[in-house]
Amino acid sequence: MLTVQKICGLMKRWIKIERIPGPLASAYEKATRLAIDIYYSEVAAEIVSEFEDGRILDLGTGPGYLPIEIVKRAVKVKITGIDLSRRLIQMARQNAQKAGLEDRLDFFVGDSASLRFDDASFDMVLSTGMLHSLKNPPKVFQEIHRVLRIQGQAWIYDPAKIASYIDRKKWRASLTKRELFHLWVFKSLGLIRPIKTYRRDEVVEMIRDIDFEIISIDEVTDEIRIRLRK
Ligand SMILES: C[S@@+](CC[C@H](N)C(=O)[O-])C[C@H]1O[C@@H](n2cnc3c(N)ncnc32)[C@H](O)[C@@H]1O
Repeated sequence: MLTVQKICGLMKRWIKIERIPGPLASAYEKATRLAIDIYYSEVAAEIVSEFEDGRILDLGTGPGYLPIEIVKRAVKVKITGIDLSRRLIQMARQNAQKAGLEDRLDFFVGDSASLRFDDASFDMVLSTGMLHSLKNPPKVFQEIHRVLRIQGQAWIYDPAKIASYIDRKKWRASLTKRELFHLWVFKSLGLIRPIKTYRRDEVVEMIRDIDFEIISIDEVTDEIRIRLRK
């Protein structure tokens, strides 16, 4: 017999939900907030060690904590963050304002597979935790290539391993009854899927027809770290 769960399981195979669903955005934001000191600050320091100046595009920016940590450390950097989730973009704007950094941070709703930016308009393109959720990764890589200036670099981290970094007890205790209910509904319907990390050879295949130089593609435990140059 077809149960609701089975139907959702079948739907999941056909429909890939890219964005963080609206009802889960605030619970997700609370998880990423707990990861600022243990994950985003480390990634930000790594980025700033090579990019102290210029324009960076952050794809699938979520609540904007990584861009905030970067501009805190590099006063000449400007970052544009985009995300499919309207709620997360609203949060990112509020977070930038709270940090007093809104003059160097812009956040827009947008699709990484169809960027609104001119060719060669960024020095670097960055993304954490988005690659695994994309419907059409090669299209996104084509867009990244288009908006990068010559010699510009793309650094893609996926997944961001937020779940394994944070104190889950502390996170759950911070959630409201409403947020816990939304999580329960999505989990019960089987709509929260385990994250699949791409392997190196799969990434190489995705970018096969794009004129990128591979600087490195490292499989680090359950995360992949990709560095490409145009
Ligand atoms: C796991 S979250 C990571 C968010 C943030 N980068 C971080 O590390 O906290 C992935 C984000 O990518 C966004 N996303 C997924 N597909 C996208 C697309 N095609 N274009 C823009 N954003 C996308 C989702 O809405 C979600 O906010």
